[in-house]
This record gives sequence, structure tokens and C-alpha cells, in this order.
Amino acid sequence: MFEVYQVLYRKYRPQVFSDVVGQEHITTTLAHEIESGKLSHAYLFTGSRGTGKTTCAKILAKAVNCLHPHGGNPCGECEICRGIDSGAILDVVEIDAASNNGVDNIRDIRDESSFAPVNCKFRVYIIDEVHMLSIGAFNALLKTLEEPPAHVKFILATTEVHKLPVTILSRCQRFDFKRVSPEAMISRMQFIAGAEGFTLDDDAAVLIARLADGGMRDALSTLDQCIGQSSHVTAELVTKVAGMTGRGHLFALSDAVASGDAAKAMELLDSLYAASCDMERLCAELTLHFRNLMIVKTVKAADSVLICTAQELNDYRAQSGRFTLEAILACIDALQTAGANIKKGVNRRIELEMTLLRMASPAVSDDLQALRRRIAALEGALRAGAAFPAQTEPQPASVQPQQTAPAEPHEPVPSAAEPAPEPSADPAPQPESRPQPEPQPSAPADPAPQEDRYFELWPQVLSVLAELNKPLWGVLMNSSAVLRGDFVLLQSDNPSLPMFIRSGNHARDIREAVQRVTGQKMRLGIFSQPKPAQPAPETSAPSPLEAILQAAKDGGVKVNES
Ligand SMILES: Nc1ncnc2c1ncn2[C@@H]1O[C@H](COP(=O)(O)OP(=O)(O)OP(=O)(O)O)[C@@H](O)[C@H]1O
Ligand SMILES: [Mg+2]
Ligand SMILES: [Zn+2]
Repeated sequence: MFEVYQVLYRKYRPQVFSDVVGQEHITTTLAHEIESGKLSHAYLFTGSRGTGKTTCAKILAKAVNCLHPHGGNPCGECEICRGIDSGAILDVVEIDAASNNGVDNIRDIRDESSFAPVNCKFRVYIIDEVHMLSIGAFNALLKTLEEPPAHVKFILATTEVHKLPVTILSRCQRFDFKRVSPEAMISRMQFIAGAEGFTLDDDAAVLIARLADGGMRDALSTLDQCIGQSSHVTAELVTKVAGMTGRGHLFALSDAVASGDAAKAMELLDSLYAASCDMERLCAELTLHFRNLMIVKTVKAADSVLICTAQELNDYRAQSGRFTLEAILACIDALQTAGANIKKGVNRRIELEMTLLRMASPAVSDDLQALRRRIAALEGALRAGAAFPAQTEPQPASVQPQQTAPAEPHEPVPSAAEPAPEPSADPAPQPESRPQPEPQPSAPADPAPQEDRYFELWPQVLSVLAELNKPLWGVLMNSSAVLRGDFVLLQSDNPSLPMFIRSGNHARDIREAVQRVTGQKMRLGIFSQPKPAQPAPETSAPSPLEAILQAAKDGGVKVNES
């Protein structure tokens, strides 16, 4: 049986520009500059991970020094090429700015660069992850870039070009590396399979390319893991190695979203989490899934655009019928935002939960589109004779009259469609049945409101909830609470909160947690800031449209039925 001694992506690091796939816009320009001798003194290579930046930097460093270059490529055989490869020639210096980011590191380069190279024509500095340099180091680098000695070349590489000062940017010739296309990846993988003597099935290659999402290194790593198991790489093997279970879970999740079934979406997410599915990856996969739905919905020859099997294409077609294009775009938007937040380090699972919750419950989402739909529904209700509470009316209690308008007859959001009472208030805390409809359910019905007290033990309640009910804890993470009589009133600027608490056993779990912490049975409500008692005259009369918008936003519009 054959064995791999060196990881594939190292072994098959391209040695000449023509081996670099998917970046022809860059490699032809570079090769041409080398051939014609019109070199810049500083290059900036940017683009996502594993797309060939370091590879091209190394080729370029050799090519400018090679004794027998052909077509702008290094020969790979002369003493210079071999010396650079083996590390024997010290004129090509690779610096990892992630670990050498101080001003002194760059000053060293400056001092050193004033000397002529020892063996080569050019001293080449490859500064990888250049965005990691400190401010001082950037300034030192800038000085060198401003008056570079003729025998020095800089190649800066980074995935995060937006973190570079413009002063640096403006002194470099910039090349943007693209994600490698699936076709280019597949052909490179097949080339490697041929060279290594293993069999790579076509659908397996498609699958790897899809998983790698444009990163060639990732693709080769997955391939490596596969051939560690068998010299015949099949789609099943890829599936097994990559630890994914097809796209069934994606269809199931988006089905729940299409049905407006937030509880179902939470349940699915929960079981995926339990099966140690990586939430960041799931978020990326879901984004792609909705993108595919969008393509199927808009492009006639979708099969030429999508990387998927015929069966999957049918599934996409069927599911795309359940969404409007607008809804799909809104979902992509929400998922992309979630992905960005996750990258910034917020809790992955909670972020995804909140996002799915919003996607599945457009009625409680406060994004523009949802708002538009709600306004349309409200207009309908108005035409049908609905009455709105006057805006000047003083708030009787600071708990919102959370009676939900039977708006949006087309929105399949079960809980919002019922004339449900304030979800979390429990006029009769025991037994644990669903709250009963009653006209003024949520307010501690006290005409002279009792004084609110800050509920200091709320953080403890939250930590109990972290054990008891994770999704709920996620939704409540940034909340606080006040006490009023025997009510605990939740404070949160999460618009989904009332709707969320209405579903499942969440209200019960909060009460349970409160009881564990305080030893007392308390009732639940949602706190809302009392409106300023005497608003300034010029702001006291909002336009009717503003009033409706505000009411729609608050979710507290009261429509007179019956
Ligand atoms: N465009 C490409 N064509 C062929 N192989 C590639 C390409 N891009 C990457 N590879 C493969 O992936 C490996 C890593 O690529 P490289 O180090 O150039 O990526 P990078 O863009 O510098 O990534 P990072 O941002 O993580 O530093 C290479 O050794 C090579 O095997
Ligand atoms: Mg690199
Ligand atoms: Zn050479």
C-alpha cells in the first residue's frame, strides 16, 4: 500500500506560475513584469486563506533572481533557485509578521537592507500576515518603502488588507487573489491524484471542492485525510472524513424557516449541536444553501452554476418554491451578518440561534423587510376598521399591553397569530398550563404601580438557565430584570424575546430558575420603559405614520377585533 510522507499541500506547492491555478490574472502579469524587467519594488498579495499568496511570493522571489528564467518563471535548477529552496541563500527572507510584529523587527530589516545582497541580484523580503504589524512597525516599514534601495524588493501578504494603513497600500502594487473556482480545484486535485497514483472519483472531487469553498489548501488537506484511509477516494469517504452528513440537515433547517416554525429550528439546531456539529461551519453551509436556493429561483440553467448532484438540484427546486426571492435574500443577509459576528468572536451557537429565530419569525424581526410586511398588514387592519390606542394616553403600567394583532394573515407564525395574552405573564402560575387569555393579563394590575426594584440576583438566575435551557439563556444573555410585587419583569432589547418565551417551556424554565435562586415562586412579565411622562411639546405629537411605525416596532398594536 502506498503511503504519503509529506502532506499534499506542501508537496504540491506550485514551483512555477503556470502551476498556480485560478489566479491567472495575477500570474500572467507577474510573469510579464519579470520577463520585461519592469518590476515594482513592493508587491501586496491579498485574498482569502490558501489561495496561493505565499506560493506566488516564493515563485516571484526566485524568478527575479533566477539565472535562467524562462517565460518569467524560475528555472528551479540553477544554484540560486536551489539555494533559495534549501534555505542556503539568505538574500530571500521570509518574515512572519504575526510573531515578529514589533518596530525593532522592521528596523532590523531597514538596517540590513542597506547592504547589497550576497548571492542574488535582489534581496527579497516576504512579510507574511503583514496586517499583524504594530503601528510603530508600519511606520518603520513605510520609511523603507518610501526610499527603497534599488536592490531590495518587498512582498507583503495578508488575508486582511483592510487592516493596512493606506500609506502602505499606496506604495505597493496590489494583487487580489480570488477564491479558487471548483473547476480549477478539481483539475488540480485530479492532476495530483494522477501523480500520486490514487483514484479520485468525480463526485468526490466535487464534494471536496465544495467543502473547501475556494481554499486550495483546505481542499488538499481534505484529500490528504481521504487518501490516508484509502487509495480510492469516493464521495462516501469524503463525507465520512469531513464529518458531514450530506445536506439533509440544511434542508430540514430551511424547511423549519419556511414554515415559520422557530421551535422546530431550535430543536434541529440543538440536536446538531449535540452531535458536535461546528456552528461556524453550519452557518457558512446554511448561507451557501440559501444562496443555492436563490440561484435555483433566478437562474434558468441552475445546474451549470451549482455544484450539486441531480437529486439535490431537484430538492433545491422544490424548496425554493416555498420562499419568495425577498425572503431568501433576507435569510442570506441575516446569515452573513451572523457569520461576520461569529468571526468577531461572539458565541457561535447563540448567534446562530438568534439568527434562525429571526429567520423563522419574520413577524418579530425588526428588519426593514419584516417591518414593511407588518405595515402592509396593519394597513389592511386599519382599512378593516381597527383602532389604535392614542399615543398621548398615559401608560397605565410599565408592562406593555402585549396583545398581538392578528396581523399578517399570510405569515405562518403560529404563536403570533393567536390573540395570545402576554406570553410570559402567568396569572395562574400553577399548574403549568399555557397562559389563559384574559383582557389585561400581563400587568400586575395595580392602578398605583408598586415601586420597581432592580433584581440583583438575575445573573444567578441566568447561570441556572445556562444549565437548564441553553437556547433560552442565549436569548436572555444581555437581559436584566426588575422586581415589582411578585412579578419578575424582564428587560431586554431583543425584539424576539416575547415571542420566544411564548414557545416551548421557556416561561416555566425561567420561573423554575428564579425559584431555585430566590426560593420564591414569582410571576413573569416583560418590562418596558415607561414613556416619559411629559414629553417636550415639539416632540409630543408624532405624525400618524410615526405612531403606526412605532407601534408596529413595539409589537404592541392593539386591534379591536369582534
Ligand atoms: N492557486 C493555487 N494553485 C495551486 N495550489 C495552490 C493554490 N493556492 C494554494 N495552493 C496550495 O495550497 C498550499 C498553501 O498555499 P499558500 O501558502 O500559497 O496559501 P496562502 O494564500 O499564502 O494562504 P494563507 O493566507 O493561509 O497564508 C500550497 O502549498 C499549494 O499546495
Ligand atoms: Mg500564506
Ligand atoms: Zn533558476
